[in-house]
Amino acid sequence: MTNSGAQKGTPLDAQPVGRKGVYPYLKRTPLDVQFTGGKGVSPYLNRTPLDVQPVGRKGVYPVVRLDALAPDIYLMRIASGYIAENALPGQFVNIRSCEGINTLLRRPISILRVDRDKGAFDIVFQVRGKGTGMLAMKKAGDTVDIIGPLGKPFFINESFRKIAVVGGGIGIFPLLFLLKEMQSAEKTVFLGFRNKECIVLSDDFEKACDSLHIATDDGSAGRKGLVTGLLEESLDNGQTFDIIYACGPGPMLKKVAYLAKKHNIRCQVSLEQRMGCGIGACLVCACKTKQGDDWDYSHVCKDGPVFWSDQIIFDE
Ligand SMILES: Cc1cc2nc3c(=O)[nH]c(=O)nc-3n(C[C@H](O)[C@H](O)[C@H](O)COP(=O)(O)OP(=O)(O)OC[C@H]3O[C@@H](n4cnc5c(N)ncnc54)[C@H](O)[C@@H]3O)c2cc1C
Ligand code: FES
Repeated sequence: MTNSGAQKGTPLDAQPVGRKGVYPYLKRTPLDVQFTGGKGVSPYLNRTPLDVQPVGRKGVYPVVRLDALAPDIYLMRIASGYIAENALPGQFVNIRSCEGINTLLRRPISILRVDRDKGAFDIVFQVRGKGTGMLAMKKAGDTVDIIGPLGKPFFINESFRKIAVVGGGIGIFPLLFLLKEMQSAEKTVFLGFRNKECIVLSDDFEKACDSLHIATDDGSAGRKGLVTGLLEESLDNGQTFDIIYACGPGPMLKKVAYLAKKHNIRCQVSLEQRMGCGIGACLVCACKTKQGDDWDYSHVCKDGPVFWSDQIIFDE
């Protein structure tokens, strides 16, 4: 006599271990829809972040050129029609700079801008350690192994008429792409650098916005002090914005989030957490986020790097 598993066994007998498979992405989840909101200002922005590419595609792409912008800061142009076509502002690529023990992990670098006509994109990186050091030794014609585009992009909506953009140090790089995509908004930009020698891409930012304000820690260019001081002054003088976008070090983001809340302005922050796998598998990039009345860990690589500022629990 035969019995089916469904009649005789427990549900677990019927299906003891889930089957692994790779399935086509058929439908948007409510989360996509909620994150993206309304119609965007460019054709690319009508797509929801997750249906663009939930996990970036791996590829080996040629370096088109590498230019030194300042001591230890390099602009690299990489040929990839796929990334140029699919990347959204705020997303990043995960780059393997070379094989070897120290550089086995990929390094996350923001997408500075894309050239869709030429099928290329630019990154700017500062040499910090072995990974970025090896990247700086590449030359035109070499290849780089990349997974991308990755991460949740900035939320862009055509109802945002006046925006503020705040960047500090290496955090300025994803913001240029954002400015370029928000063509119809009035854009005020606040950038902070350590000193005059560290200032890069100021001409590009100037062209991409309506007013640019620079602060340096030592006063060697622009206003002396923190970039958040410039934002605070502007808000205290009655300037209003529909949204503030920020990327930079933690204390800067914490202050921007505070100022946005104080002035009742929506705010998105892009976190620069250290990363391991870059695809949500290792927890290296965990950050604390609010979940209703409770909190939990989110993955910056997968759930971010862009978050609404009131979601983040910043370190004390
Ligand atoms: C989403 C995202 C986007 C990024 N975009 C850019 C970018 O556009 N341009 C750019 O120059 N850098 C960017 N970074 C930082 C960059 O990934 C690190 O500087 C890089 O991984 C360092 O690797 P390394 O092997 O050279 O240094 P390592 O040997 O790994 O580290 C050397 C030192 O660098 C510092 N460092 C390492 N990782 C980070 C980090 N994530 N944030 C801050 N400091 C770090 C630490 O002080 C560390 O001790 C981004 C990081 C994230 C998470
Ligand atoms: S970097 Fe591995 S989970 Fe985010």
